[in-house]
Amino acid sequence: MVVHIMGHPAEMDEILKIAREHQLVVIEDAAQAPGAYYKGRILGGLGDMTVFSLNYHKHIHTGEGGVVTTNSDDFAERLQLIRNHGEAVVRDKGVKNLVNTFGFNLRPTEISAAIGTAQLAKLPRLLDRRIENANFLNDRLRELPGIRPPVVKEGCKHVYYVQAFMFDEKVVGVPRDRFVDAVAAELPLPEDRQWPLIFSGYADPLYLLPMYQQKVACGSQGFPFTAAAGPVNYGAGLCPVTESIERRLIGTEFMRPPCTLDDMADVVSAFTKVYENLSELTRNSLRQEGMHTMENLRKYLAAGAPDEQLATAITIGKNYATLLSHEDLKLPDAVRGFFYFSDFVVNSVLNWSEITPTRNSASDWSHLLRQVNTYINSILISIIEYYEAE
Ligand SMILES: Cc1ncc(COP(=O)(O)O)c(C=O)c1O
Repeated sequence: MVVHIMGHPAEMDEILKIAREHQLVVIEDAAQAPGAYYKGRILGGLGDMTVFSLNYHKHIHTGEGGVVTTNSDDFAERLQLIRNHGEAVVRDKGVKNLVNTFGFNLRPTEISAAIGTAQLAKLPRLLDRRIENANFLNDRLRELPGIRPPVVKEGCKHVYYVQAFMFDEKVVGVPRDRFVDAVAAELPLPEDRQWPLIFSGYADPLYLLPMYQQKVACGSQGFPFTAAAGPVNYGAGLCPVTESIERRLIGTEFMRPPCTLDDMADVVSAFTKVYENLSELTRNSLRQEGMHTMENLRKYLAAGAPDEQLATAITIGKNYATLLSHEDLKLPDAVRGFFYFSDFVVNSVLNWSEITPTRNSASDWSHLLRQVNTYINSILISIIEYYEAE
């Protein structure tokens, strides 16, 4: 199953080559890519079957429902059976091969089919508007350091279900999530700000979803995970590239019709305004990060730092470490010195927690964390004071 994610086609040549070598059926999920092209060919007939979605947030829709295309008469017949109670009609149709001929009631109504037919006629125009809007944003936002627009591969047509940008936190100097919140806050209309068409990341890597993490799917006994020949592992880090992209990606849907180039200009203004005020954002971001961390530490201390909260302490330490890794903050040496000092303290706590058995008494933890609390507090206050004086 190949997913043409966000509206750009996947590398079909390579996928089909592997599939043919191993005699695999290729099903393309083009739910996000109706009208997209791969090397000059429109999606819908490259693999064995292609599925399209007509649910309410797709390029065109009928409320719910979808379409499957195929060049194979056999697959077409099977799809028609599965759609319509499967085995209940095989006798009437004279079907002999019952493999996978179970069925459902997936019949669209004639009303939604009529809406779908009318929508299909509008698809080219709707795609043109989307692509024009998306190109406008790509061209303007690529000028901002640390923002990289999507690449459209040679011979391909991207139909922008989602327009994703890669965000380089080291270049921009602000964590991605704070940046996204800041852009959303600069959008012109209250409803845009309340339900912004910009978001941090897109979807969790599938294997990090609770079903895989807890290995509970069908029934409560762990099927199908228990049916595997050996142990099944879905730990974080399984697909490092996917995870890294998910951490750096900014998703947007500003390009959706009926939005126009005027609306896109508002989006560009929101981005530009945030860029013009990056140092203030950095300061607020530091302050919030610091407050959040202090709050966690306080809770930790108030709870008496029992053993089971060791993990929380380590998370707090790691949050500090992230805060301290902002090489590009361009802070003056004095403030940077505080950072390194704090880094030293945090690492000491982390080392200490790793070498010390979790049986340690709560008072040891409390004492140590109280010291850290004091150090970090003074560091954060110094930074805030520095910026306020500035
Ligand atoms: C890539 C992809 N595949 C499948 C689906 C599911 O489509 P439907 O809700 O029509 O079953 C979606 C819908 O969001 C999708 O984005």
